[in-house]
Amino acid sequence: MFKPIEIANKIYSVGCRDWDIRDFHGYSTYEGTTYNAFLLLGEQNILIDTVKKPFADELLSNISRIIDPQQIDAIISNHTEMDHSGAIPQVLNTIGPEKPIYCSKMGAKNLKSHFNTDYNFQVVKTGDTLTLGDRTFSFLETRMLHWPDSMFTYLPDDAILFSSDAFGQHYSGDMFFDDEIGDEIMPHARKYYANILLHFSAKVQALLKDIGKMDLKIDMICPDHGIIWRENPSKIINAYDQWSKQEPQKKVVIIFDSMWDSTTKMAKAVTNGVESENVNVRLMNTRKCHRSDIITEIIDAGAIAVGSPTLNNNIFPVISDVMTYIKGLRPQNKLAAAFGSYGWSGEAVKHLNQEFEEIKFEVIDPGVKVQYVPDEADLDKCFELGVKLATTLKDRISS
Ligand code: FEO
Repeated sequence: MFKPIEIANKIYSVGCRDWDIRDFHGYSTYEGTTYNAFLLLGEQNILIDTVKKPFADELLSNISRIIDPQQIDAIISNHTEMDHSGAIPQVLNTIGPEKPIYCSKMGAKNLKSHFNTDYNFQVVKTGDTLTLGDRTFSFLETRMLHWPDSMFTYLPDDAILFSSDAFGQHYSGDMFFDDEIGDEIMPHARKYYANILLHFSAKVQALLKDIGKMDLKIDMICPDHGIIWRENPSKIINAYDQWSKQEPQKKVVIIFDSMWDSTTKMAKAVTNGVESENVNVRLMNTRKCHRSDIITEIIDAGAIAVGSPTLNNNIFPVISDVMTYIKGLRPQNKLAAAFGSYGWSGEAVKHLNQEFEEIKFEVIDPGVKVQYVPDEADLDKCFELGVKLATTLKDRISS
């Protein structure tokens, strides 16, 4: 059981740790996650967000260690997705179904759709100020960051931002704050950004500008997953600024799969070509590397190369899975090239080039295809493909 932590004066983290989850709707969560919820005590007692449905008993038990849950006066729901709203029906059954839920307009619509129940929704919008007892709240809708209903709740008197999914990390451990875990949390935050928010990078840039214009004092950021940023909240804000700009770095990610090791040999030759130009490289075998780790490597890469054998006139299925995932998350500013071996028809390279164009990656070469097993001359072509990717990337970055 999780021991509630007082994170600020009369503000408690009462959420739950999910140590076991390893697949979060297609995202590999090697270290589990948390579903953070926050209990604010005062003249009115407010619960900000809940947890995933199977953890509802644990949430209520955590709250019971502080107050009788029936003393909760209202819920603020920053986000409808079920990892934060799933426990709402059970919480309301406990605290009283007539208690208000403050949420965005889309939040009210979406919560109603999820639970087929017309709870006491009280709609708030950007700029609204709400006084509940001795506390004042303000709200910032963050539509499509990452759902239409998403919003932030800000507590001006304590300078705390409850940021829903934003600034979160899928991490479950015995550390709860940035100053406890240090830089070890950043790979988790980066992976979270790549898999949840990359698609919305332009909106992240706009949001960060809005926050800057509002001149919000932020002493603490409480996301709905992972650790709380209290020592240096600007660290994660600056990281989001950097990741969302998607400025290409001198780095090439090479993704491949192989049936009989021919495409593996080609991938290694492309890798050697990139390295010969002193450009950073990551070689990622899709049988060994999860799609969510591949996209995490891609966010700052200036170029990708994808190698696929041809199977049944098409791209190899595991490569299609990864390409579909990449397309959905829409990374920007990438150079691209394809390669792969084939037996008799050899369509994979052509299909990959079409996918690159669809995703608006710049295809810098028609690609290299090799029948059956590459010989030295074929591997030289692959090496040169790696050199071309690296030199073109260096030229683009320096121009
Ligand atoms: Fe953590 Fe969008 O839910």
